[in-house]
Amino acid sequence: MSFECAECGRVSMKWLGKCPSCGEWDTYTESGEFGQEPSSSEGLLDAGAETLSRVKVSSRERIKTGIPGLDRLLGGGVVPGEVILLGGPPGVGKSTLFLQIAGKMASSGKKVLYVSGEESPSQIKIHADRLKINGENITVLGSGNLENLRILAGKLSPEAVFVDSVQAVADPSGGGAPGTVKQVKLSGQKITALAKNSSSVFFLSGQITKQGDMAGPKLLEHMVDAVLYIEPGDGNERVVSAVKNRFGSCGDFLLLSLGSRGLTEAENPGADAGMRNRVIPGRAYCCVKSGKRVVTAEIQALLSPSYFEYPLRRTSGFSRERLLMLSAVAEKYLGAKASGMDIYMNVSGVTRLQERSADLAAVTALYSGISGIAVPGNMVFMGELGLGGEVRRLRDAAERYAFASRNGFKSVVIPGSSGKIKRQQAEIIFIDQLSRIKEIIASDGG
Ligand SMILES: Nc1ncnc2c1ncn2[C@@H]1O[C@H](COP(=O)(O)OP(=O)(O)OP(=O)(O)O)[C@@H](O)[C@H]1O
Ligand SMILES: [Mg+2]
Repeated sequence: MSFECAECGRVSMKWLGKCPSCGEWDTYTESGEFGQEPSSSEGLLDAGAETLSRVKVSSRERIKTGIPGLDRLLGGGVVPGEVILLGGPPGVGKSTLFLQIAGKMASSGKKVLYVSGEESPSQIKIHADRLKINGENITVLGSGNLENLRILAGKLSPEAVFVDSVQAVADPSGGGAPGTVKQVKLSGQKITALAKNSSSVFFLSGQITKQGDMAGPKLLEHMVDAVLYIEPGDGNERVVSAVKNRFGSCGDFLLLSLGSRGLTEAENPGADAGMRNRVIPGRAYCCVKSGKRVVTAEIQALLSPSYFEYPLRRTSGFSRERLLMLSAVAEKYLGAKASGMDIYMNVSGVTRLQERSADLAAVTALYSGISGIAVPGNMVFMGELGLGGEVRRLRDAAERYAFASRNGFKSVVIPGSSGKIKRQQAEIIFIDQLSRIKEIIASDGG
């Protein structure tokens, strides 16, 4: 006899009051209660054996979802047979995102099956109409019965199947209600096998609990190919990030904004591209981490003759102590003298710039403010400065570079020690000594 945690699925030979894996109390039940594993081979992958070199690659080309940011997040589109789990709190916009992807795929001629165990076809229709989705090519199934899904998917051979949500579907042969650990696990297995055997892409939505876990079955994460989370940001902002990504990378995120017409891509907070074209001395951009995301921040430095015995050093969103240090560094290595001048430094794009990697942009803004030489708005500067004027290694340089490139910056100035970076559109300019900044600015952003 064995016992299983209803929250995370950990198996133990004896009953436990508190689960050592997930820390939940009173979640262990006898595994026997859940009945036997399926005796039929229906839920299992059945793709045969073959010498690897002879395995035929079944149209492994990526399929575009039609939402460019999402395709990027998934590594360039979805792969046939891929199972993608989208987790998020109630009401965040999971169904909206699913309907929008379904609509985009359908309008590019793909056959789509949309299964909802939560909403009836007429409710789905109302939602789709609001999102201006043309329903051709989309078959809706209002059913929580996994068997119905399997039969219909067999008949239609859709390119994409949406299951909204995985907690609302159940396999009748398994017994028990939808949403129980046993059912979610079983549904996960069956859907995964169905995807691999049919090469349809499956999108599953899942509710997450207050603790931030996929409700009950964390174990679904191991079965699927990609796990995305959609979380609320500021106001209408929604952030989609990849926690697991078998055919792409993690760490990237997609910023969306939820409006009456659904979700739209809203990448590029902080710096408005129009503003970048204006020539403003004393301004420089950097890309900084804000939680898991990269954002653009603008630093402005204004210098004016001081009427005080002790010139002012005022900052907003930036450490005053750091500014004092950086102005000493700027004077020593760039010859930018601020004596007799008041300095005002302002940051926009983030509430507070706490990252040392913003040093290079801050000094550049300062130098520009003092010298009156404008910094090209299509350049972005990142790197921590030492007292010797040396530019130190940058963490997550590749991710920041990719972000800057995507956001229309033409040149990215980063420390030479940043490691290997996959070249995209933007030019990479390496800098190891601050003194080089003068010639970089003069080169005018490539
Ligand atoms: N008919 C509507 N009119 C206006 N706004 C709506 C309408 N339906 C939904 N919304 C908005 O869209 C948001 C996202 O809804 P959606 O159904 O996509 O969320 P969800 O994550 O699927 O929620 P759930 O977990 O309850 O299924 C809702 O919070 C709501 O603000
Ligand atoms: Mg929903």
